[in-house]
Parts: sequence; C-alpha cells; structure tokens
Amino acid sequence: MLARETPRIAWGLTGSGHYLRESLEIIETLPDVDLFVTRAAAEILGMYGIPLKRLREKIRIFQDHTASSVPVGFLYGGHYHTLIIGPATSNTVAKCVAGISDTLVTNLYAQAGKCRIPSIVFACDCEPTVITEAPGQTVTLYPRPIDLENTERLKSFPYTSVAESIEALKSAIDQRMTCLNTSFS
Ligand SMILES: Cc1cc2nc3c(=O)[nH]c(=O)nc-3n(C[C@H](O)[C@H](O)[C@H](O)COP(=O)(O)O)c2cc1C
Repeated sequence: MLARETPRIAWGLTGSGHYLRESLEIIETLPDVDLFVTRAAAEILGMYGIPLKRLREKIRIFQDHTASSVPVGFLYGGHYHTLIIGPATSNTVAKCVAGISDTLVTNLYAQAGKCRIPSIVFACDCEPTVITEAPGQTVTLYPRPIDLENTERLKSFPYTSVAESIEALKSAIDQRMTCLNTSFS
C-alpha cells in the first residue's frame, strides 16, 4: 500500500519503441511521478538497453503482474491527480477506444475515466509514415488506417487529451501543471 502523500502523476508506459527515449526524458523532468509499465513495456525497455532495474533507482515502478491490475486501486485513494500514457502503442489506444481494460495501463485509463481524473495520451501512431528506432536499426513504418482512426476517436473521449507529438505532449503536461498551480519546467 502507498502511504498518504501529495497527489502525483501516474505515468503509463506501453510497449512502444517509438518515442520511448523521448518520453523517459520528459519523465525525468517531472516531480512526483510513478511509472506503471505493461508487460510489453518491460520487455521493450530491455531491448532498447534501458533495464528496469536502472530506472527503479530513480523512480517508483509498478509492473503488470496481476490479473486485476491491483496497483490501479491507488487511483481510488486520491494518490494521483493526472494519468499520462506515453508512448501509447496502437494496441493500447485501440483498447482504450474499445473500452477494454485488460492490461495495467488500459486499466489505469478506464479507472481514471471512472474517477474523473484527466488523462493525457501520447499516441505514437498518429502519422501516415513513421520513422523510428528499432533495436539496432532505423525503420520506416506505415500505421494502418485503423490505428489513425483510433487516435482520432480517442480525442472525443471525456477527461482525455490526445498528444500527437513530443511538443504537444510537453504542452499538454504544462497546461495541466499550470491548472494544478504547479510548475515543473
Ligand atoms: C522492438 C519493438 C518495438 C515496438 N514498437 C512499437 C511501436 O512503436 N508502436 C506500437 O504500436 N507497437 C510497438 N511494438 C508492439 C507492441 O509492443 C505490442 O503491440 C504489444 O502487444 C503492446 O502491448 P501494450 O500496449 O500492452 O504495451 C513494438 C514491439 C517490439 C518488439
């Protein structure tokens, strides 16, 4: 159980290599963040040479070890004022849009909505062409129409801001922090 403390940011990390490093850089600039990683994210971090063990030295991390996403219960206790999901895989965005909550991060999104806690989702598949870093190589990918459609659909969800670039993500975080009367930059 978490001790009662000043409300924090819950940051959901999913299994995306695209914008992984950039997202982690932003996390390092923020105060009071806890990281929630999907099973895929835990694997991807290792593939990109970022061991979870090393991240744990700097930040509190919850992993996806339970069927019912037990750590999501912290949202009910007022421990978090904002959920940020970034980078969000096509898989996670699709599940959020469909109302499916079967991973730690999709559960966070669903429960944040039910608790009326604002979410910022950094959807990494938001352009027709994406040049990205895969382990050991740079690749060009073409997100499918369904991936782009899901990102669009998520924009209409309540308590949800969708960011489609690193700059937009930073700006959405800044706006939220200003709203909470806290400055992080
Ligand atoms: C090296 C590697 C990089 C990946 N990068 C991406 C990515 O940039 N975007 C994406 O949507 N999926 C990516 N995937 C696929 C996701 O990890 C996979 O769909 C996974 O099921 C997502 O689970 P999650 O959404 O619960 O984290 C990648 C997979 C691998 C092995």
